[in-house]
Amino acid sequence: MNGTPLNNWSIEDSRELYHVDAWGKGYFSINEQGHVVVQPDPQAAAQIDLYEVVEGLKARDLTTPVVVRLSDILAHRLKHLHAAFAQAIEENSYKNRYAAVYPIKVNQQRLVVDEVYRYGKNFGFGLEAGSKPELLAVMALTENEPDRLIICNGFKDDSYIEAVALATKLGRTIIPVVENFEELELILKHAEAYGVRPRIGVRVKLSSEGSGKWRDSNGAKSKFGLFVTEILDLVEVLRARDMLDCLQMVHCHPGSQLQDIRRVKDAINELAHVYAELRLMGAGLQYIDVGGGLGVDYDGSGTNFSSSMNYTLNEYASDVVYRIKSVCNARDIAHPMIISESGRAIAAYHSVLIFNTLGASQLDKFRVTGREAEDYAAHGELPQPVRDLFEAYRTVNERRLVECYHDAQTAREQALQMFNLGLLSLVFRGLAERLYWATCARIRDVCRRLEDTPEELADLETILSDTYFCNFSVFQSLPDSWAIDQLFPIMPIHRLGEQPTRTGVLADITCDSDGKIDRFVSHRDIKRTLELHELVPGEDYYLAAFLVGAYQETLGDLHNLFGDTHVVHIRLLEEGGWWIEEVVKGDTANLVLEYMEYDVAELAPALARDCERAVRAGRMTLAESQRVKRFYEGELNGYAYLEPPGA
Ligand SMILES: Cc1ncc(COP(=O)(O)O)c(C=O)c1O
Repeated sequence: MNGTPLNNWSIEDSRELYHVDAWGKGYFSINEQGHVVVQPDPQAAAQIDLYEVVEGLKARDLTTPVVVRLSDILAHRLKHLHAAFAQAIEENSYKNRYAAVYPIKVNQQRLVVDEVYRYGKNFGFGLEAGSKPELLAVMALTENEPDRLIICNGFKDDSYIEAVALATKLGRTIIPVVENFEELELILKHAEAYGVRPRIGVRVKLSSEGSGKWRDSNGAKSKFGLFVTEILDLVEVLRARDMLDCLQMVHCHPGSQLQDIRRVKDAINELAHVYAELRLMGAGLQYIDVGGGLGVDYDGSGTNFSSSMNYTLNEYASDVVYRIKSVCNARDIAHPMIISESGRAIAAYHSVLIFNTLGASQLDKFRVTGREAEDYAAHGELPQPVRDLFEAYRTVNERRLVECYHDAQTAREQALQMFNLGLLSLVFRGLAERLYWATCARIRDVCRRLEDTPEELADLETILSDTYFCNFSVFQSLPDSWAIDQLFPIMPIHRLGEQPTRTGVLADITCDSDGKIDRFVSHRDIKRTLELHELVPGEDYYLAAFLVGAYQETLGDLHNLFGDTHVVHIRLLEEGGWWIEEVVKGDTANLVLEYMEYDVAELAPALARDCERAVRAGRMTLAESQRVKRFYEGELNGYAYLEPPGA
């Protein structure tokens, strides 16, 4: 790949190369200028040019890395989810409604939750809390909207459940889900103390297996949920207190990112049967909560690969509704209201992480002529391994490819051994290095012209690929890429009318060798390198990771003290164009140091004292010491990421 551009490269070629239509699902495309554009409603014409956004932010002193949240996509996702279930409900003559409850753990940022809640109002969508702090946030956010559902999952202590009882007293439609039997007693205790009739949900430990990375969310070994035996005990406890009407919901969570629709069908079928049995036993059930798990097709393959899913949203909705209806009809019971806790499917598409590149290292940049007199100007006889490397370089041709590669490898090893024994000078070691990589590049170039690459040389493309240094932290901004090998679509956001002539992996700016991305979305399998454009000195080159709105922002950590990036909310305007609705400035050095227990009020004074000492000792003028102090204070208040000079 690393080589000369074709003249007839088109935007269509870039769309194909980066697989945009497959993972973009109509939300992302490329415009005439060769820029990535966002189309928040794939059926409407309005677009947002991401390169224009970055340039606009730069003019406002907001440099990359930046997370661009596209609020209109969030609104569209909610509309789409509602529409898919509305259609399934109509097609199945289902006699009740559907509501999503957004699990705020997926992205708890207030602005995101606010938007989901606001855009979900017309569809009667609610919120899910998975912990006490999340519930406290949700209680405030749902002020004066008694009908919007709140579902409470997660381990619950006495005060979590007291908060639920209080919310019930305040008139909220709130359902604590009993995850383990002890929680039932607490619910009953607080309901009595506050004089409220609780709505109770129960999480069922399904026997149907989960799948993929979160397969243990289900089954006998799952952390959460009650065995059927325990549910029967729960029924008896409630019956004895004449409170069986309070058991209003059954719940399951078959795991996140369900890539195979069969898992969904199995789980819903089992849950629906539990629902029906309990209903016939006299429980006041009204809701069936199918949990999260609706996948996101990160790689656009539409398969049951872990970063993909082999079904569509419409198919999911249709299967959920159909299964529940079939079981209820067969048992002659009323259709319950259907709830889903889809998080990823709501939030993933709406955030894009955009970052600039800082430079690149290229292994095929070493130029030699193969003529000893020209490549080696100094005196002294060439050591044998270096002579062998010259020979390998000169004799590369189609017939001797593998042999030359072997010769070069052996000679290089010998050169290194000699160096380590003090028998080879640094100058010769440098020459051996140049010859070795130049030979590899030559072999790779010949391989590109062959129909079949010899197996042993298949990795040469990857070995010789570039490393592009990028201004972001994998640990902060794409933690799932590091932790669970999650694939995210990544590509340049401009220059897409130009053929990318390099291939590379991306290295972040943390001092950690794991801080890199070397797995990329592709038509077939996973690509180990990404096609990139040659960097032009003095010009910015921007890349973006897409579909990062779910889990990434809140799971990110502070490795090397790179904190939160800038975040902006971009919205379409009715009169055309877009505007920046919200700006959340990224963490300053001050703030991340504060997280680590530094007394930031003491940092600048400590440096100021040293400046005074330097002035007294005559090592610094007063003017210089003032500059140092101003610089230090300025940096403490500056962005934690790399900035252009003078920013
Ligand atoms: C109980 C529960 N509900 C909902 C979700 C959200 O799942 P997803 O984002 O896959 O829709 C999760 C996440 O794992 C969960 O644990």
